Amino acid sequence: MAWPSLTGTELILYIPCLLLFFYYLYNTYFVFPLSPNWPLVGMLPSLLANADRVHDWMAEILKLKNGNFYLRGPWLSDMTLFFTADPANVHHIFTQNFQNYPKGEEFAEIFEVLGHGVFNTDGQLWRFQREKLQVTMSQKCFCTFIGKTTQEKIENSLLPFLSETVDQRLVIDLQDMFSRLSFDMTCILTFGADLGSLSTDFPAVPFAQAVDDATATIFFRITRPSAWWKLLKFLESGQEKRMAKSRVVGERFIAEVIEKRKQEMIEGSHVFPDLLGSYLRDENIPNSNKFLRDSAVNFLVAGRDANSSGLSWFFWVLSQNQQTEEKILHELSSVRHSTTPEGMAIFDPEELENLVYFRAAFLETLRLFPPVPFNVKSVLKPDILPSGSRVTPGMKIIPSAYAMGRMEMIWGKDCMEFKPERWISETGTLRHVPSHKFLAFNAGPRTCLGRSMALTQLNMVAAAMVYNFCFDVVEGQIVAPALSIVLHMKNGLMVRVRRRTCI
Ligand code: HEM
Repeated sequence: MAWPSLTGTELILYIPCLLLFFYYLYNTYFVFPLSPNWPLVGMLPSLLANADRVHDWMAEILKLKNGNFYLRGPWLSDMTLFFTADPANVHHIFTQNFQNYPKGEEFAEIFEVLGHGVFNTDGQLWRFQREKLQVTMSQKCFCTFIGKTTQEKIENSLLPFLSETVDQRLVIDLQDMFSRLSFDMTCILTFGADLGSLSTDFPAVPFAQAVDDATATIFFRITRPSAWWKLLKFLESGQEKRMAKSRVVGERFIAEVIEKRKQEMIEGSHVFPDLLGSYLRDENIPNSNKFLRDSAVNFLVAGRDANSSGLSWFFWVLSQNQQTEEKILHELSSVRHSTTPEGMAIFDPEELENLVYFRAAFLETLRLFPPVPFNVKSVLKPDILPSGSRVTPGMKIIPSAYAMGRMEMIWGKDCMEFKPERWISETGTLRHVPSHKFLAFNAGPRTCLGRSMALTQLNMVAAAMVYNFCFDVVEGQIVAPALSIVLHMKNGLMVRVRRRTCI
């Protein structure tokens, strides 16, 4: 049989296809099965093929590549992402050469919903806001306020909500419940009012939905060439249409909150040490609505999302590790607690601080399921990282906390196992792991400001829930991370709740 002769146009079409095919075979059978970069189209095919498991995919490549790799955008897109899970690089980027790795202008554009808040700025503006927040959050009255309001919220909303779900035999989504609870608690801290979104009527919470849509869109923006998402934004199409809607909802909500809080200050009717209240009283803080809006949005997002993600994954790992739950119950039964009129136990934050195993179980959850799974940094001047990798301006660096929690070189051969014991020293105290190895709360000058507050709240909520109730995860449910900048669960965590009858 004679071979058909090919025209010039056909050759132009065939040759790139053949090249792609051989490249695929080469990677599949001779290099390793996960090479992310393709000729011409860069990472796009690999990203699309792994779109529903992107965090695990990144972690697998980082493992195979000893903790570092580059991901290239399509030809001419000028997009290069450098992924790292290497503690020496993380230490260099976050601490030793911090000045060279700001979040950068592109980050600010991608995260524009956060305005010029603490998360989204660099230099003087960031430092000013961080210092103000640090002072506010370390004040004794603020800390007491957190303990007291969390305790009240547990007693007046969370436990009654769970009792009702038992009485009505409801199947509930724990993730949704934690989002509502964290949102209410963060609203109290931000502007001193409980919006009551945690109730078995499941009221719609437009602001919370807007934040979910915005964080999903931000993930989309990070993983696409900027020209692409900017075009969609201009056209208000696809994911960007949701972002535009979220912005309107968010802006309206925050404007109302600020107006209400200002009015209360004028009337002197509300004296809580909440964030907005403290800012309105502080003469050194710009009183402009824009500054207050940005501060409030950043605080609300910080408090709601990370806390609810941490709690959801904690209850998921507990459901998979019966022994851990038993050990936690044993520890809880050894400390003093108060009892509600309905006979349910509530724990004091100070009592919980001494429970080493309980705290270790939380840290172990955050190791495997960090609520902020990756960070984004830009590069000011060309640099060579401790790993020998070269980084240049225009690149985005993505340090992955999710991958770091799964690296054998950091945690040993059993890195994929849930083992709270790894956090406990021979003398029975909590082991300190430096933040450039355990990146869940970030590292260096931008370390999370809410770390101790968050751990207090998570411990109080989880202690009351575990001690008073049992949670049976609905069978056959697939629990996996969602595509977002926050480690939500894509299908939620559906459970049936029972009252615990014996400890
Ligand atoms: C389990 C709970 C939490 C985790 C795992 C967590 C983790 C993180 C991470 C990874 C960052 C760095 C983000 C970035 O640079 O893009 C961060 C920053 C921050 N967090 Fe948290 N966070 C938690 C809870 C909270 C809470 C409850 C608050 C306060 C309401 C809070 C306040 C902040 C603030 C203000 C920053 C900005 C720090 C800066 O850029 O200087 N966090 N957090």
